[in-house]
Amino acid sequence: TTSKRILSGMRSSNPRLHIGNYEGALRNWVDLQEQGYHMFCMVADWHALTTMYENAGEVSRNAREVAKDYVAAGIDPVRSPVFIQSHVKEHAELHMLLSMITPLGWLERTPTYKEKQADLGSAEREPYGLLGYPVLQTADILLYKPYGVPVGRDQAPHLEIGNDIGQRFNRLYNVEVFPEYKYLIPQDETRAKLPGLDMRKMSKSYDNCIYLSDTEDQTAEKIKSAFTTPTKIRKTDPGIPEGCAVCQYLKVYSPTWQTQWQEDRDGLRGCMQNKKECTEAINEYFRPMRQRRAQLDDATIEGILADGAIRAREVAQATMSEVRAAMGI
Ligand code: ADP
Ligand code: NA
Repeated sequence: TTSKRILSGMRSSNPRLHIGNYEGALRNWVDLQEQGYHMFCMVADWHALTTMYENAGEVSRNAREVAKDYVAAGIDPVRSPVFIQSHVKEHAELHMLLSMITPLGWLERTPTYKEKQADLGSAEREPYGLLGYPVLQTADILLYKPYGVPVGRDQAPHLEIGNDIGQRFNRLYNVEVFPEYKYLIPQDETRAKLPGLDMRKMSKSYDNCIYLSDTEDQTAEKIKSAFTTPTKIRKTDPGIPEGCAVCQYLKVYSPTWQTQWQEDRDGLRGCMQNKKECTEAINEYFRPMRQRRAQLDDATIEGILADGAIRAREVAQATMSEVRAAMGI
């Protein structure tokens, strides 16, 4: 059955996931798994190549580390296959076929493309893969005909294109191969777009991250340097928890955050106390995951990924048969 299937994935542009990746995506994956959905958890190594083609080997090594983060966070590879995108060649085949039916204008309009284009400067040197990124992502998703795709807020524009491409395929070939899927974005806005230590979006490209695999001491050091209410100098100055990174983390990780926020607003507690309690809350929350991660060895992960690829390929091959039949090729 496809009705309860979920496809989820992250790029392996970094060997470690940050707690923004966890809140926006991974935490939901684990929840969905526990609710009985059939999760397919992909590590998108090809996607990482759009920006890291010069160090492709690193992308591949990172992929193993990202898989460890999935399992450490609670993905059970027995129930939820964990696999590497490049191990399932059907992703490339569907990407190629979908690229034939995707209007260029849809891709040129995506916000991420416009941003990256601005970063890179000249269109002369821009890789073709960057423009095609949403088509590859669409192939990743549609191969599994999922009920939904759990992601953070920033991914919504890409997911819309994916449904548009799927529906265009159905119309062109007069079939119902691809059902529309839902975007499963966390209800809580703080989790859907977790701020970084500097209050910009947490992102590895801003160097403002707390990583799942950071030690407790590293976490403490990072929280010490985190952005707080700029006008709160003394303990008695009123804080603005909405604009304070430490208070945002308290909201996510501390069961007593409401009291903490009220005391912050009322000038009854200082930033030092917030930081101390925030560090404790984060470290307590991630302790079991960090311990599980430390125990995962390379051989175990290779076994999980080999098994995951077999199970993913089974679904992907079935979809490709339907796609080829629909197109008459
Ligand atoms: P990054 O922005 O660090 O490069 P990715 O683009 O690889 O991370 O994102 C992987 C997943 O994590 C996506 O589902 C994305 O929506 C989610 N995500 C990334 N950063 C955040 C954040 N700060 N808050 C919530 N979700 C996030
Ligand atoms: Na992102």
